[in-house]
Amino acid sequence: MSTIRWEQDETGVVTLVLDDPGQSANTMNDAFKTSLTAVADRLEAEADTVRGIIVTSAKKTFFAGGDLRELIAVTPEGAQQAFDAGMRIKRDLRGIETLGKPVVAALNGAALGGGYEIALACHHRIALDTPGTKIGLPEVTLGLLPAGGGVTRTVRLLGIADALLKVLLQGTQYNAEQAKDAGLIHDVAATPEELLTKARAFIDEHPASQQPWDVKGYRIPGGTPAQPKFAANLPAFPANLKKQLNGAPYPAPRNILAAAVEGSQVDFETAQTIEARYFTELVTGQTSKNMIQAFFFDLQAVNSGASRPKGIEPRTARKVAVLGAGMMGAGIAYSCARAGIEVVLKDVSPEAAAKGKAYSEGLLAKALARGRTTERKRDELLARITPTADPQDLAGCDVVIEAVFEDAALKHKVFQEIEHIVAPDALLCSNTSTLPISQLAEGVQRDTDFIGLHFFSPVDKMPLVEIIKGERTGDEALARAFDLVRKIRKTPIVVNDSRGFFTSRVIGQFINEGVAMVGEGLDPASVEQAAAQAGYPAKVLSLMDELTLTLPRKIRRETQRAVEAAGGSWAPHPSDAVVDRMVDEFGRTGRSGGAGFYDYAEDGTRSSLWPGLREHFTRPDAAVPFRDMQERMLFAEALDTVRCLEEGVLTSVADANIGSLLGIGFPGWTGGVLQYINGYEGGLPGFVARARELAAAYGERFAPPALLIEKAAKGETFRDA
Ligand code: NAI
Repeated sequence: MSTIRWEQDETGVVTLVLDDPGQSANTMNDAFKTSLTAVADRLEAEADTVRGIIVTSAKKTFFAGGDLRELIAVTPEGAQQAFDAGMRIKRDLRGIETLGKPVVAALNGAALGGGYEIALACHHRIALDTPGTKIGLPEVTLGLLPAGGGVTRTVRLLGIADALLKVLLQGTQYNAEQAKDAGLIHDVAATPEELLTKARAFIDEHPASQQPWDVKGYRIPGGTPAQPKFAANLPAFPANLKKQLNGAPYPAPRNILAAAVEGSQVDFETAQTIEARYFTELVTGQTSKNMIQAFFFDLQAVNSGASRPKGIEPRTARKVAVLGAGMMGAGIAYSCARAGIEVVLKDVSPEAAAKGKAYSEGLLAKALARGRTTERKRDELLARITPTADPQDLAGCDVVIEAVFEDAALKHKVFQEIEHIVAPDALLCSNTSTLPISQLAEGVQRDTDFIGLHFFSPVDKMPLVEIIKGERTGDEALARAFDLVRKIRKTPIVVNDSRGFFTSRVIGQFINEGVAMVGEGLDPASVEQAAAQAGYPAKVLSLMDELTLTLPRKIRRETQRAVEAAGGSWAPHPSDAVVDRMVDEFGRTGRSGGAGFYDYAEDGTRSSLWPGLREHFTRPDAAVPFRDMQERMLFAEALDTVRCLEEGVLTSVADANIGSLLGIGFPGWTGGVLQYINGYEGGLPGFVARARELAAAYGERFAPPALLIEKAAKGETFRDA
């Protein structure tokens, strides 16, 4: 059955309605490819009766892009087939583009990836201005490049520099107005009727006999590399890209750059072949599989509620009490108010509470200056935040989110103070980053309604929230917490209680490993470089400085006491001695103290690594292969994640992958911390063998856990059932 409906009116205008039967969205699946060929052939055969063409969709979105289920399954053996299939789409779109009739894309909703590539093959693009309209080529974020003519056409439409920077390398998604400003579309429409009226008007104004557009030659704005002005700038592109990637192993940006530059020096058809070749290399490689798995399938599983208890009716939060208007409380208040929820923001004094609200004012002032909000929306949002120091003002709140200092006794006290004031069935959440939830719940009366809601800093930007189930937390509370996180448009992962939960615990392994290497006498600059080249967004020693050296030390000591009190044994980490020396001997406690692994200027900006590190720690004879340095950090996190699964802290692979990517900066090319193990050379057995090598060389902490060995032996990977 065709996925493209052909509707022709008496004046000869053909409307091609993209409408995949039985699917909620149109994708570039086999059925679509077959329909596209059929439509291209029919247009050619019946060209005499066609006056113009409008392409639009019967779905909510215009077109959702490539069929990722198909793409993730492409094997190296299937490379030729993938190449041929891509060339066929290009040929069909090119056929419609060069038919000699005016072709208009009437984008009734999101046109991303393949959707925007269809639009690019049209001579005129109009988008309906709705909140759901997103336009762009985000393939790079899945480790791919746009291979439906997307590289070839954007380079010719915008010029190579703008095509790379505005569209291809970041995968930026624009709303309708922004897309128009960026030159991606020509016009916007306020209503679906206006969209079609404008599309038709374009056809009326541009009869086939007077085509003003040059699709055969496709001039390149800004010049081609053959022109001296452009050639002079060309070497800067790879150098800038290299700097941007910091040596991290992302093949897609490199291939996009190559396809754009090489394609700009040849004719249109050859450029399309080059584009297809670079795409095929990416789609058969491991990185795109990792990224598609994580940023599409795992993310969808997590957001759609795979970890939410089933059968519990959604309940919308109406009024949230945020306790503590510091850095986190202020950000949480803003995020809730942005989602339309009333917030009462409480601190110890009216001044402290007002300061917390001022944080929202600051963010909104910036958004207003950048045209991202309006004065009316700003005022409405601010009106939803009520700062106070009076506990009585929390009456009627149906959710409490506590974000006072990280101190168990204080947290107990504030919950006691407000529990009888808020709604009798209020959901009680703590934003602790390390304290066990079950322990905090001991102070409250309704412990089944008590739950951990761990936000990340800065709250307004960070997309993840880690929900922590205490021993007595009920399913109803978990479902409500999940719904709240979705309501404020963040991604919730669900974990069971333990010290540091999943994220804080696992990122701790990364930091400890980096610090341990300094203790072994390795050059601190190489340690930082190893983290960057492994793809970590933050350097490891600078991250430790941000956290402060004293906080992890305090947590470590508390944990040690708790473990020993419970009769367990405590193995020190080689990083402990380094941190102790840094704090006790040199008084360097991190960025907030003005000195840590780095020196800081008066205004808190990082100047350079502390020269004393070389003097007191670095040894000229210390040598660890660079690959080992990188893998020690990656493996430390991956192995501890497997232990989290073994211990039941984690119950879902998707939660682990997404939590590691969105919460703690595990490198994106891996597809997440467990997908890193799946995709490792030699699969799980290869990973186990390498872990054993690292254990022999650097310590037992790298010994593979039983669950990993067992899965490797059975030939399994880490996947949710
Ligand atoms: P902060 O020091 O910026 O803010 C704490 C606020 O709580 C202060 O404004 C203080 O006046 C207020 N406060 C103290 N006692 C209070 C009381 N009895 N009633 C109401 N307010 C009171 O601390 P921050 O960084 O915002 O952290 C808050 C919590 O969030 C801590 O538990 C922390 O571990 C956790 N957290 C922090 C993250 C971070 O990156 N800073 C990340 C995730 C969680």
